[in-house]
Amino acid sequence: MSQLTTRPNAVRRSLPDLLRWLDELRRRGQVHRDDRQRCWHVLGHPEAGAVLADHHSFASDLRGLLPRQEDVELFQRGNFVRLDPPEHHRLRGLASRAFTPRTVAGLAPRIAEVTTELLDATGGRTRLELIDDLAYPLPVIVIAELLGLPAADRPMFRRWADALFDREVADPDQPLTELAAANTRAAVPVLREMNAYLLDRIRACRARPGDDLTGRLVQVEVDGQRLADEEIVGFVGLLLLAGHITTTATLGNAVLALDEHPGAAAELRAEPELLPATIEEVLRLRTPFPRLVRRAVADTRVGDEVIPAGAVVTVWLTAANRDERVFAEPDRFDPRRAPNPHIAFGQGIHFCLGAPLARLEARTALGILLDRYPDIAVAADVPVEHRDPWAMVSVNSLPLDVRPR
Ligand code: HEM
Repeated sequence: MSQLTTRPNAVRRSLPDLLRWLDELRRRGQVHRDDRQRCWHVLGHPEAGAVLADHHSFASDLRGLLPRQEDVELFQRGNFVRLDPPEHHRLRGLASRAFTPRTVAGLAPRIAEVTTELLDATGGRTRLELIDDLAYPLPVIVIAELLGLPAADRPMFRRWADALFDREVADPDQPLTELAAANTRAAVPVLREMNAYLLDRIRACRARPGDDLTGRLVQVEVDGQRLADEEIVGFVGLLLLAGHITTTATLGNAVLALDEHPGAAAELRAEPELLPATIEEVLRLRTPFPRLVRRAVADTRVGDEVIPAGAVVTVWLTAANRDERVFAEPDRFDPRRAPNPHIAFGQGIHFCLGAPLARLEARTALGILLDRYPDIAVAADVPVEHRDPWAMVSVNSLPLDVRPR
């Protein structure tokens, strides 16, 4: 997972601020070097796709750029989103069977059941807090069950996820490696706690493996060798964190987008088949991870520029998903947009492993929500709490006024 955020307590910025800042960057070229941030920015859609698809030239392992630290290194051993082949291939292969569209489709009844239970627990209240009541607990319960972790520990998982992803980027123009180093330092206490918790669970699981993903990981043999406990830590940690925060973000973002576009909300209620495309359009316009980072390992032409070996490369998914060369009227929310080749789930060998699960969770939860409440409006008397969009495009709280059927 990219760690590019730092310093809590700075002034909160909003998505339009990020979009204006990205427009400024785009004026300097779809691909350009930034002397202040000491990195290369990639903003265009084809250019972003080219970088993400070329894992030979653009590595995901950033360890050489950051100060070494034992807790970070332990977590990184199995955190395959930050590993390159062959390690990436070996570890991703172990998890991929659990996340194919077919396997994931089998989770549909459970996802619907958890959604219904969570909404039942609101006891007919007409004021919901979307994140606390549904958008956070649903994906974390689902991923914890898949991994065999106690869903009851979710307040702790939330504390970790918030510590790692709900941070303010104090100065967006600060050199990127400084930002990442500060961020890594800030993450150490949480990573230490998370590593210790996961190691305990993995050891317990080795003693008595259950029929869950962690149970299978402790038993599986790759080239005649079992995975070390220390390799499983980052692996399970990655799935646990990646498996919920972005889906939480997407549910909040979808409800926000529909609130801002009542016409689209009415159309969706009349034509529920629009739900999958609506979620894709939400992912395009409110892409949860605004950027991905790579390290160039060879001089490589991207668009009109040659990015030199050694460069730090920031791929702006938020900008690529609004590239007017690919998306007509890119800022317009259009759930009927087809095709919609957004890259909110990345591209290439690191393409989001959980995309089928995230899509299923978002469709199921939003479908049930719309069905259950004929009227849903973002509450006018309490502010919506946004995360810093340079770190993540998401809300922390979303109070809603609803009318049950
Ligand atoms: C809407 C929700 C989601 C979004 C927008 C999202 C986004 C992304 C993105 C952009 C990447 C690529 C990172 C890179 O190339 O550096 C990624 C990778 C990944 N995601 Fe997701 N994700 C979501 C949900 C999930 C869920 C539910 C899971 C559950 C397991 C998950 C697991 C992963 C994993 C394991 C990777 C690493 C894949 C690899 O390196 O091979 N994600 N995700």
